[in-house]
Amino acid sequence: MVKKGRVFSGARPTGRQHLGNYLGAIKNYVTLQDDYDCVYSIVDLHALTTLEDTAHLREWTYEMALDWLAAGMDPGRGTIVFVQSHVPQVTELHTILSMVTPLGKLTRLPTFKEKVREQPDNVNYGLVGYPVLMCADITLYKANAVPVGVDQASHLEFTREIVRTFNHHFGPVLVEPQAVYTETPRVLGIDGVNKMSKSLDNHIEIASSPEEIYERVRMMVTDPQRQRRGDPGRPEVCNVFSLHQVFTPQETVQQIDSDCRTAGIGCVDCKKMFAKNLADYFAPFRERRARLAENPDEVWEVLHRGAEKAGVIASQVIDEVKGAVGLP
Ligand code: AMP
Ligand code: TRP
Repeated sequence: MVKKGRVFSGARPTGRQHLGNYLGAIKNYVTLQDDYDCVYSIVDLHALTTLEDTAHLREWTYEMALDWLAAGMDPGRGTIVFVQSHVPQVTELHTILSMVTPLGKLTRLPTFKEKVREQPDNVNYGLVGYPVLMCADITLYKANAVPVGVDQASHLEFTREIVRTFNHHFGPVLVEPQAVYTETPRVLGIDGVNKMSKSLDNHIEIASSPEEIYERVRMMVTDPQRQRRGDPGRPEVCNVFSLHQVFTPQETVQQIDSDCRTAGIGCVDCKKMFAKNLADYFAPFRERRARLAENPDEVWEVLHRGAEKAGVIASQVIDEVKGAVGLP
């Protein structure tokens, strides 16, 4: 079948993936395989920008690869899954792109300002260049489409601008990519307020057992005005309800909506139902993951084969870029 183009996405090796990663990104990584050649990267170099993580890099890379493969990212269908640092051409492209990147553009990005607030004692050079490395990731594979959560929107817009600048100076070599979002591009954490993320410890891991899932769901913050069992609730402000809409059949969702408003159902019952549906949804995933985990060497082998295939594309594109720039 003729594919529509190429997809690229990357994610930092944060270990076991959470519901936000899954609903915001991984779901699209999997479905886009039907129509696109897909290249997916575990971006370990990006992870170095927040140094405290590096002790776990190997373990977290492996755990993440297990989640990705079990979720259905399938090298058997031509999909390339690899570790960023195994294809070093990306660092060359990063250097070249950095020469057409105005520094002010980088320091004005909201994501950079947020990192400065989070790690004021470690505002390293790599952190400033983070979006340039991301631009290099995407353009090294001439990707047309990039599935990401909406928190990456400013990075994608930045990539598009750099591509336009580069092509304006050196000719139409790089491809301007489109961001692709799911229906749930920003999943809230169990606190019901912040974006779900491992660093805030407000996440639910998709590889969790049904018991672990229930433990986390039990902690989810619901409508803060609903203090007693008899208080009517407001599903529109409840994160458990919004996630029911993803994992629970539509008729039941409607029933929960009306039962919550009339206090016919309490938060505990509602959460039990949600935890069960969530655990059921991921049951086949857990089985596939357990099978893959029986053979860790094979998982690393998949990543190494992926790097070989990615390297072939990367070498061609970096040669083209160097030629366009006029490097002798
Ligand atoms: P990260 O783990 O932050 O490197 O993110 C990996 C991918 O998951 C990126 O495409 C993110 O945009 C996406 N993602 C992370 N957290 C969330 C969330 N809470 N909601 C939606 N997407 C997310
Ligand atoms: N910045 C992304 C994140 O934090 C990870 C990433 C690196 C990425 N390179 C990429 C995402 C290329 C998409 C495309 O989640």
